[in-house]
Amino acid sequence: MTHVTTLLCLFMKPEKESHNLEHHWTRSAVVYQIYPRSFKDSNGDGIGDLRGIIQKLDYLNDGTERSLGINAIWINPIYPSPMKDFGYDVSDYYSIDPLFGTMADFETLVSYAHARTIKILMDFVPNHTSSQHPWFLESRSSRMNKKRDWYIWRDPKPDGNPPNNWLSVFGGPAWTFDATTGQYYLHSFLKDQPDLNWRTIEVREEMEHVLRFWLQKGVDGFRTDSISYLIKDDGFRDDPPNPNYIAGRSNPYDALLHIYSQGRPELLSAANTLCKVLDAYPHAFMVSEAYLGIPKMVELYRACDNNLHAPFNFNLITLPWNGESFKTFIDEFDAHLRPDDCPNYVFGNHDRSRVATRLGQKRARIAAVLQCTLRGMPFIYYGEEIGMEDLPVKEETGLDPWGKNVPGFNLGRDPERTPMQWDDTLHAGFSTSTPWLPLANNFRTINVARESLNPRSMLTLYRTLIHIRTHTPALLNGSYHSLPLQGGKDIFSFIRIYKKEGILIMINFSDTSHVVSFSEDVLRGFLNTGCRVLCNTECNDAKKYMNIDTLTLRPYEAYVLALPSK
Ligand code: NOJ
Ligand code: CA
Repeated sequence: MTHVTTLLCLFMKPEKESHNLEHHWTRSAVVYQIYPRSFKDSNGDGIGDLRGIIQKLDYLNDGTERSLGINAIWINPIYPSPMKDFGYDVSDYYSIDPLFGTMADFETLVSYAHARTIKILMDFVPNHTSSQHPWFLESRSSRMNKKRDWYIWRDPKPDGNPPNNWLSVFGGPAWTFDATTGQYYLHSFLKDQPDLNWRTIEVREEMEHVLRFWLQKGVDGFRTDSISYLIKDDGFRDDPPNPNYIAGRSNPYDALLHIYSQGRPELLSAANTLCKVLDAYPHAFMVSEAYLGIPKMVELYRACDNNLHAPFNFNLITLPWNGESFKTFIDEFDAHLRPDDCPNYVFGNHDRSRVATRLGQKRARIAAVLQCTLRGMPFIYYGEEIGMEDLPVKEETGLDPWGKNVPGFNLGRDPERTPMQWDDTLHAGFSTSTPWLPLANNFRTINVARESLNPRSMLTLYRTLIHIRTHTPALLNGSYHSLPLQGGKDIFSFIRIYKKEGILIMINFSDTSHVVSFSEDVLRGFLNTGCRVLCNTECNDAKKYMNIDTLTLRPYEAYVLALPSK
């Protein structure tokens, strides 16, 4: 076929017909999450910005093996905001906060990123606005205002108390009394983040408009914030008490089971509304933030029919660390998904303690292997690729409102939001002046410059894994088959198969060595001799060949091997 004919065929293909998304960018995506305040400061005010991200695009992907090799970025909110929740309190959905730059900077970022085949996902915050948003200022001005119903207002109980017992995730009641109109408004998070009323049609339409605005600017999709909160019980029933709550020991928010204040069944239709907007942009993808088990995740997958929407899968963050629990969870998740569903596996983000702090550096290397070899999209939080660790921050004196409002439960998120550690110079190459949050203490040893030179570093491991993933069809589109556990519960292995290509991943979750053996009966038509090492966690056996009829896996060692077919 000539080039012209190929192009014609591409254009003539009806959009809807494509049930096979094998060539859609999401299927080969490795997403890198940028917390923009902390990535790179270009103008010396101590706060990361869009020009800083542009300066570091080559680090992310310069088209060679020397760069990280990711091909999509999700940027935490960059909209104008009073920053009470560091951008998750949006006061204008249609522009850029001057702290981060200008719309022109954003457009430059999109075009420079696209030139490097890096896709851009915007953070989309549909559940709440800032209390300073003009919509809320209007809404609160009078009961008769035409935007009154854009937010959720309710009368006090006869005794003046809030309308029901719902709690705010960030501490205290989810209701704040507003003296101007004598009613309470609902806020699932801070009182500075009033919840929009998704039962009001104009709200939905406005949010659809927001999505279209950014899609027309050329973005490739969205990460949708707090999707489970969009719809609340229309009867405003009290949430029941949580029988497992231990006063003083559990997060006070866990005192109730949040079955009426969030996670309502109508949520699926709200998700569908958003997906419908994306339907008109066949390249666009949406990932939704909700902490869910498998059945609820599956419901969200089914809420949209284009297979270009996925709920985040956060389950690996809290699974007990052993081969058996990982195998059980991943087997079950994979079995519930259809071939065109796009799974994803998350180990960390801006709300969670750093992977290397939670799990330790050795286990963090296993997390890297899992993310880059399992089916679906890896999401890598900035800095995880160099093994950044939490900065211990006293919650009372920290900046994060969650930690300050609810001290004593380790909820503050400053520790995982420290500036990116680029090198060992003053301010770690992040800025020329004091950063908005202190650097982690270890920046002189854990940093990009140093790790780039070290063939065994975390950064080298990530670069190698991402490069292998991107160039190995079985890791992008292959089916997943787990093998029987070995070494008690410690060794989890699985094969990814695509056409005649088979890739075996074997992982020792434990701190002891284990002798393992793979007979050809379990290898699905592949041989157990002459297997080529693509990568191992020590980054030391690449390109060697090995037999796997018997071998020893050292503590926390993982291998990625190409299997010869019979
Ligand atoms: C989830 C976001 O990840 C978190 O950072 C934010 O504080 C809440 N949603 C509220 O928007
Ligand atoms: Ca700056």
